[in-house]
Amino acid sequence: MTNSARLTEIDGHVAIVTGAAGGIGRATALRLADAGASVVLVDLVAESLDTVADEVTALGSRAVTLVGDVTDDELAPAAVKLALDTFHRLDILVNNAGMGSEQVPTWQIDPAVWRRDLEVNLTSQFVMARAAVPVMIEAGYGRIINVASAAGMEGHAMAGGYAAAKAGVVAMTKTMGKELAKHGVIVNAIAPALINSRMLHEPWFTDEVRNALLSRIPMGRVGEPEEVAELIAYLASPAVTFTTGHVFDLSGGRATY
Ligand SMILES: NC(=O)c1ccc[n+]([C@@H]2O[C@H](COP(=O)([O-])OP(=O)(O)OC[C@H]3O[C@@H](n4cnc5c(N)ncnc54)[C@H](O)[C@@H]3O)[C@@H](O)[C@H]2O)c1
Repeated sequence: MTNSARLTEIDGHVAIVTGAAGGIGRATALRLADAGASVVLVDLVAESLDTVADEVTALGSRAVTLVGDVTDDELAPAAVKLALDTFHRLDILVNNAGMGSEQVPTWQIDPAVWRRDLEVNLTSQFVMARAAVPVMIEAGYGRIINVASAAGMEGHAMAGGYAAAKAGVVAMTKTMGKELAKHGVIVNAIAPALINSRMLHEPWFTDEVRNALLSRIPMGRVGEPEEVAELIAYLASPAVTFTTGHVFDLSGGRATY
């Protein structure tokens, strides 16, 4: 028996997952599909997205792909339309697409890079929610999971734009949780730290950065995307009824807030 037996309530639900070609996004799409959800997979990377779609199909669920940039204002309405046209409902939005910054002290960040950090990691989540929420309000039901970061809770030296964006995700989540509390739409965020994905192979993630971060994790290891997906699947389910606007830690014991 897989864990999905506990989440059978999302059987037949429909989810949009952004950044679905990446580590956490792919694991999330597969976890939701394993619990019976249909998924709209959104990412910049067409080829990997098709692979994830095939994996979803192999689990017996349905997937459609949308290749595009989440900073493009047209993408969010297109994703919602695709969900409605294909699957005729939208229950779950996982705002997961994101990327790290180059390692530069905040006062030396090029303003164009700073703006890009905020666009990709924060504004993209706002525009996706802006497109999805009216549909969810109309249905009287929705689950939104915004992927923040421990960087947004604690700050992160040499990644100021990224940390600021993720702190913005936290504030947006808390705000929307309050705004939507009486509409059946529950909005929560997760704040992972050091998850084993492509992000950990980017140039900014040097051995020095890795070791410094690992030394702060009581479990002494990186997390796996599947561990993140497990929490997202729970937050995407109707099992969550009295918790909204909250940030859930995924840091191997590092966070004590
Ligand atoms: N890996 C970690 O340690 C960690 C820690 C904290 C937070 N996060 C967050 O988790 C989320 C997922 O990251 P991941 O670790 O799976 O990394 P990843 O690089 O494997 O996946 C990120 C995905 O987002 C996509 N993406 C990036 N920019 C995009 C854009 N403009 N439009 C569309 N798609 C875009 C990428 O193509 C990629 O497939 C991100 O929001 C990241 O900030 C990751």
